[in-house]
Amino acid sequence: MRHDDARDGSDPVNGNDEAPKTGLNQGLANYGDEGFSLFLRKAFIKGAGYSDDALNRTIVGIINTGSGYNPCHGNAPQLIEAVKRGVMLEGGLPIDFPTISVAESFSTPTSMYLRNLMAMDTEEMIRAQPMDAVVLIGGCDKTVPAQLMGAASANLPMIELVTGAMLTSGHRGVRVGACTDCRRYWGMYRGQEIDEAEIEEVNAKLVGSVGTCSVMGTASTMACLSEALGIALPGSASPPAVTADRLRIAEWSGRQAVINARTRVTPDRILTEKAFENALRVLLAIGGSTNGIIHLTAIAGRMGLDIDLEAFDRMGRETPVLVDLKPSGQHYMEDLHRAGGLITVLRELKPLLHLDALTVSGRTLGEEIDAVPAFEQTVVYRFDDPLYPSGGIAFLRGNLAPGGAIIKQSAADPALMEHEGRAVVFESAEDMAARIDDPGLDVNVDDILVLKRIGPVGAPGMPEAGYMPIPRKLARQGVRDMVRISDGRMSGTAAGTIVLHVTPESALGGPLALVESGDRIRLSVRERALELLVDEAELERRRQGWKPLPIVAERGYRKLFFEQITQADKGCDFEFLRPPSMQGRVPR
Ligand code: FES
Repeated sequence: MRHDDARDGSDPVNGNDEAPKTGLNQGLANYGDEGFSLFLRKAFIKGAGYSDDALNRTIVGIINTGSGYNPCHGNAPQLIEAVKRGVMLEGGLPIDFPTISVAESFSTPTSMYLRNLMAMDTEEMIRAQPMDAVVLIGGCDKTVPAQLMGAASANLPMIELVTGAMLTSGHRGVRVGACTDCRRYWGMYRGQEIDEAEIEEVNAKLVGSVGTCSVMGTASTMACLSEALGIALPGSASPPAVTADRLRIAEWSGRQAVINARTRVTPDRILTEKAFENALRVLLAIGGSTNGIIHLTAIAGRMGLDIDLEAFDRMGRETPVLVDLKPSGQHYMEDLHRAGGLITVLRELKPLLHLDALTVSGRTLGEEIDAVPAFEQTVVYRFDDPLYPSGGIAFLRGNLAPGGAIIKQSAADPALMEHEGRAVVFESAEDMAARIDDPGLDVNVDDILVLKRIGPVGAPGMPEAGYMPIPRKLARQGVRDMVRISDGRMSGTAAGTIVLHVTPESALGGPLALVESGDRIRLSVRERALELLVDEAELERRRQGWKPLPIVAERGYRKLFFEQITQADKGCDFEFLRPPSMQGRVPR
């Protein structure tokens, strides 16, 4: 059994094996007297003005992750109102409740450090409170994976509802949107192509409205993967945050949640091996964020499934990139929406998908694709004439990454994907910050920048620092890309020839810890190879002399994090949140 499902007919709190309880009657607080527990619960909620008629309905919980610190979820109040309308149209009772909200640029040390905390919060608040189904409103990068991880483990009928992408804006006649353009303009500023006044001017233009990043970054990737998994409604990934389409999806999510509560469409019926294979295929075809593979690994892990990255890489060789969105292409999420949304992509991928996979709409993925008419558009390329011939993400191995590493080849410089160069090593993010812009730094354009200690344990939280800046003295010469290697992650909105997720990480003594400035490194994306060209005797000598830095956390979440965090190949989930045994590997 994959889950300890508290709603499967038994009641672990009250210790009986009667027929499943529903609505307000389930999951009673334990006062040693069930009748009194329900009496008390009703008394309190009636204080909020509810009638017995309302309280006897099917209850749909709505997770509210609106927060003043999270502009990516700035439309949460409107979405909640629309979900509630949908629930009531179907005769249910909506009850919203808060969980942690994690915003990318407002979370220190990094939002990834908090993802598992949010997953725990999500799971336990679903378990703790009486509801028959739940709609989870998420959006910003780590929120959707956290919700899917937590809700998958709770195994209550659920529908993911993303907040949707922000609108694009304009700067001096150029269309701009967060956050690929944030990085582009910052690179221009570092290279002295634009001045202080202009970088401040563009700062007010990059984010056109509330909502998630407007490119195929991690948020958009997770929105598309949720739809591909079938755990979000068809057509739900692409409507921008502030549109009528987004609100209609919210209303439908509420309606459908009531239906799914009655028909018991639980996550284990949706998040199957076939669903994960479909999602992996879509991740490749949309040129999705490299973070997507970590998050899918974590979500699949909750269902007892490992992701086989070698097989994923083979899948990539037969799955081209079709979606022309930044950072791999030129368009924005609102353009994908006008082009028909993810269904247009799914239609192109149809021969490669498991069309019989069930979705939360109650229909199969194939039925949903067939229900939407095709039309001419210019954002999604045809399968036989793709944007990029193979999948967006390639899986690398070699003596520098025995557990693997990845590169987003669709957003890399083709001229650098077969490259050998001299390593310029930074021992930590702090070391890099101190030296990268030093005019005396011994670095040239053919070198390979190596950054250590930004893995899951090292930083901690595996920050998106893998997108290392080009050293200022080279940036001023017009250099825009170099091979960069780290055990960290990078934002899905970033582009460049950047090797990420090197496993095992350097803080745990992985081979990356042994690299010294001046070593030669070879990257071959064609051969899927990442090699440190130092002989084994010398590496062994270094290994004997390597000493780990102390990892200090005396108490609290930080202590739990260090004790439980897994490596990238297990999705950086906490070990104790994964099932005791795994049941299979995907893709096959
Ligand atoms: Fe929230 Fe990009 S910062 S989605």
